[in-house]
Amino acid sequence: MAASADTTTITTTPSCTLTGRIALVTGGGSGIGRACCQVLAREGARLMVTDINLQAAKHTLTLLPGGQQHVALAMDVRDRRSVDDVMKSAHDQCGAPPSLLVNCAGVFITSPILKIDDDSWQKNIDVNLMGLFLVTQAFARSLLESGIDSKGAIVNIASIMGKTGLTEFSGYSASKGGVISLTKTCAAELASKAIRVNCVLPGVIDTPMSANASEMRENFKRLIPLDRFGRPEEVAEVVAFLLSERSSYMVGACVEVTGGYAM
Ligand SMILES: NC(=O)c1ccc[n+]([C@@H]2O[C@H](COP(=O)([O-])OP(=O)(O)OC[C@H]3O[C@@H](n4cnc5c(N)ncnc54)[C@H](O)[C@@H]3O)[C@@H](O)[C@H]2O)c1
Repeated sequence: MAASADTTTITTTPSCTLTGRIALVTGGGSGIGRACCQVLAREGARLMVTDINLQAAKHTLTLLPGGQQHVALAMDVRDRRSVDDVMKSAHDQCGAPPSLLVNCAGVFITSPILKIDDDSWQKNIDVNLMGLFLVTQAFARSLLESGIDSKGAIVNIASIMGKTGLTEFSGYSASKGGVISLTKTCAAELASKAIRVNCVLPGVIDTPMSANASEMRENFKRLIPLDRFGRPEEVAEVVAFLLSERSSYMVGACVEVTGGYAM
């Protein structure tokens, strides 16, 4: 066997790692999704910013470098027709399907397990897990059916709670645990088709979502070795790495971005 040292190629890192790629981000109108759009645009990608809240997605557009080339679209990840419509508009508005996907849209509804009602529990699953499945399937079909010779990459935003669980977060934690195992299954199925799938497990990140969980935040804080909450861009930088060829040998990985919580 040839010594690997003889064949190693270290590429000089280009400043823009995603130039020419079309990236679809769900939940791009706020928090982590918005930061992902900003970092991916900085890296040269053309953004399809999608959100159930079109106004919020349009506001994200105004924050992106190279504004003209990006688009904002309404998409409810729970609705297959809405998801298919967005995939069709990619052909019309961008001339090609997206080859990069960030599944970031999410909600959380909390309540003790003895009290939570069926609808509240189900809402976590519908957006965070079923929605992620619908978008992933439509994205992969559209990329593979296009015949475009482009490597694909998907990053799913799960949560550290998908690994640890948390009091009063039963539906949310279960949905995120589902995202972790769905990531690994999709990763196994799609790697041979040149689509890499990985996920990120954020801890508590300063966004509108976590602002709504003040009690949880305080309980968490003393357990975070870095002694602070994360910033959306600190998750987005990891997402950009996982979408780029810099992570070309990573498949089915779950990367924790938690400041050290629950190591
Ligand atoms: N903030 C945190 O502490 C934290 C921690 C771990 C994981 N996460 C995950 O990160 C992701 C982003 O969270 P965030 O903190 O940025 O929240 P956020 O509330 O700031 O943003 C969520 C976005 O998702 C959109 N959305 C909600 N339902 C949707 C639907 N049905 N279809 C399309 N879009 C929809 C919202 O309009 C919003 O723009 C979520 O999946 C969340 O579970 C967040």
